[in-house]
Amino acid sequence: MQVAHSQSNTYHDGVVRQFSIMAVVWGVVGMLVGVIIASQLVWPELNFGLPWTSFGRLRPLHTNAVIFAFGGCALFATSYFVVQRTSQTSLFMPKLASFTFWGWQLVIVAAAVSLPLGFTQGKEYAELEWPIDLLIAVVWVSYAIVFFGTIAKRKVKHIYVANWFFGAFILTVALLHIVNSAAMPASFWKSYSAYAGVQDAMVQWWYGHNAVGFFLTAGFLGMMYYFVPKQAERPVYSYSLSIVHFWALIFTYMWAGPHHLHYTALPDWTQSLGMVFSLVLLAPSWGGMINGMMTMSGAWHKLRTDPVLRFLIVSLSFYGMSTFEGPMMAIKTVNSLSHYTDWTVGHVHSGALGWVGLVSMGALYYMIPRLFGQKQMYSVKAIEWHFWLATVGIVLYIAALWISGVMEGLMWRAISDDGTLTFTFIQSVEAKTPYYMIRVLGGLLYLSGMVIMLWNTLKTASNGKAAVAVIPAVHAHA
Ligand code: HEM
Ligand code: HEM
Repeated sequence: MQVAHSQSNTYHDGVVRQFSIMAVVWGVVGMLVGVIIASQLVWPELNFGLPWTSFGRLRPLHTNAVIFAFGGCALFATSYFVVQRTSQTSLFMPKLASFTFWGWQLVIVAAAVSLPLGFTQGKEYAELEWPIDLLIAVVWVSYAIVFFGTIAKRKVKHIYVANWFFGAFILTVALLHIVNSAAMPASFWKSYSAYAGVQDAMVQWWYGHNAVGFFLTAGFLGMMYYFVPKQAERPVYSYSLSIVHFWALIFTYMWAGPHHLHYTALPDWTQSLGMVFSLVLLAPSWGGMINGMMTMSGAWHKLRTDPVLRFLIVSLSFYGMSTFEGPMMAIKTVNSLSHYTDWTVGHVHSGALGWVGLVSMGALYYMIPRLFGQKQMYSVKAIEWHFWLATVGIVLYIAALWISGVMEGLMWRAISDDGTLTFTFIQSVEAKTPYYMIRVLGGLLYLSGMVIMLWNTLKTASNGKAAVAVIPAVHAHA
């Protein structure tokens, strides 16, 4: 229902609009940096001989931009959209919600300036220096207040499963961020970790793996649980399955971090524990994937005509694929081949481009027309184009890196009859060049789809106007 109405019984969608548009903008920026660093690995001259544009500084800029700016804005937008609709109430403390928008943009800009300048704590996915870390903590606590405050003032009795996933994501990311970022400042732009040696590594990968589990998974499962049933116009396949796999997922993820530290100074039993929990993790991950897929029962024919649904369902396939591949790579003997190789980077991007990217795009394509009072996006044909560019891009990217990853792993361990290494390291680097070129092509396709999405979004927004959505009256039985 999109009619002008008084403020008191309408959803607070201004902040949802802001986060949605910025998710698309940061998606283009982050993926552009991805294409640049992918090109630098083929043509190192593209480093331009400058420290600010070197691979080592642009790589964390890429990861921070795609995960925290693109993924983060998509998560803020969808969680604020979903929590209001499923609680049939408006946001708690809308001014604080607005602060989370501006605060998060400030974090992103601070990251975009400080990382190329070389300020870093050197911890992957937690590079930002302590003043920015403090700002993140303040914004995140505000986010938690807005989200849980909205749940507290809900007008319906039960808490819809999407909110369980969003809630777990918000709470856990707060915990991870605060524990892993504990540091002693030495100056404004330099600090030392509170942990040392192997403990530091252990805390870092407890953080790193749960960043995958909660930032890149739980939050996006929240998205999946709202937008797949909505777009398919079918109820969630099994509510019981959603509860079982929710608890199993959040419990199991916590223990799997050591699979990032196989064959290191970490005690051997800890590594084995990480491996076993990673294998167990297949079950709850597939619980979510199956629940999403089965929601399509009786609606599969819609895939032929509905490109938005296609984004959502193909994302689930990639989720299933990457959560099968991950447990395999966590097996120590497999990891002895895959670790340090492009296989890992391929795995990352089948999850990141396939799951995180596509599910966000599907959710944004659902929300954007509704947020701007339109029936559909400005161009449905453009959504089709985006879908195919993205899908072909992902396939090129991950297939190329599987080949180059397994190839380099095998080259490093090949031993000649006289007991010496068969290949020098530089030979393995040279052998990867054609596959790196294919990755650049795949990345370019994926990025061009995102540019089309930006154009389509701006057209939809400028043709429409900020829509006011009325909260439906709640009946006693709701
Ligand atoms: C146009 C699309 C993209 C391209 C071309 C691209 C390219 C790259 C490249 C070249 C690297 C460095 C690999 C290395 O060090 O060998 C990288 C790393 C990474 N990218 Fe992307 N990327 C893209 C999109 C994304 C998206 C959308 C996400 C997340 C949502 C993402 C997450 C990551 C992560 C987490 C890493 C670190 C991987 C690791 O340490 O193993 N990327 N990307
Ligand atoms: C059952 C689920 C999963 C398991 C058990 C798993 C397991 C693994 C393993 C074993 C590695 C390689 C560690 C190494 O050798 O250094 C890895 C790397 C990684 N995975 Fe997964 N994975 C899972 C799902 C996912 C998903 C869905 C995503 C993304 C959305 C993802 C993102 C990553 C990232 C970013 C890294 C690279 C970390 C780094 O070295 O920088 N994983 N994962």
